Amino acid sequence: MQSIGIFDSGFGGLTVMKAIVQQLPQYDYIYLGDNARTPYGTRSFETVYQYTLDCIEKLFALGCPLVIVACNTASAKALRTIQQNDLPKKYPNKKVLGVIRPTAEIIGNFSQTKHIGILATKGTVVSNSYVIELEKFFPNVTAHQQACPMWVPIIENNEIATEGAHFFIKKEVEALMQQNPQIDTVLLACTHYPLVSHIVKNFLPPQVQLISQGQIVAASLANYLQRHTEIETQLTQNQNRIFYTTDTVAAFEEKATQFYGENITAKHI
Ligand code: DGL
Repeated sequence: MQSIGIFDSGFGGLTVMKAIVQQLPQYDYIYLGDNARTPYGTRSFETVYQYTLDCIEKLFALGCPLVIVACNTASAKALRTIQQNDLPKKYPNKKVLGVIRPTAEIIGNFSQTKHIGILATKGTVVSNSYVIELEKFFPNVTAHQQACPMWVPIIENNEIATEGAHFFIKKEVEALMQQNPQIDTVLLACTHYPLVSHIVKNFLPPQVQLISQGQIVAASLANYLQRHTEIETQLTQNQNRIFYTTDTVAAFEEKATQFYGENITAKHI
């Protein structure tokens, strides 16, 4: 089996996997959630790099010629080093793709006012990756960033439907909109955040559109596979979906359904 590997620090990448599997159902997929070490968003560059590399190497060993880092924090803090140093030295025939670049390539088209809001983990915001990438593709667009350090713990701990969750979501959404009221497009730049999109929408002015990354990343992967037949022809097409977690299987299976939209059977790794 030669699968597409999908990796995240926890459950968030399942929102991306769902969109990818809908668009490209024919392939085999292996998901790896590093739940034992989540969240990554508040950790140092060195730690996120080491954890991300561990997980990617595991997916390579499980037979994935291509790995999607379905985590903005890991894409921001670790991907470049892995693509530029680790792959050429150790895995010249393997490919690793992130979620920031495909999003930055297209997100500027959604905005009329050319002011985009980015809601992300502290790690993604501090890396400035969205500002740097958007500048390359849409130099006339300004990105306004807001870190939401409480959101991943709220989502991972199943506290979404609580007053506390609403307090922290309102706080960050209002802080973002105060940066510039011209913002007309807001990106959920963390793969966990689609789970709270309905709450985020409540606190945004009605004219502001809210964008999740799943469809964008899926479309970009479909395009990548068309252009890279050397990878595409290696992939097996038996519609297998295998899920691994670094933490307890029962807890993963219970929560993963919320993110993926169907029941999941997981294995521990
Ligand atoms: N889902 C990850 C992202 O897209 C963040 C989760 C974390 O902080 O571990 O940024």
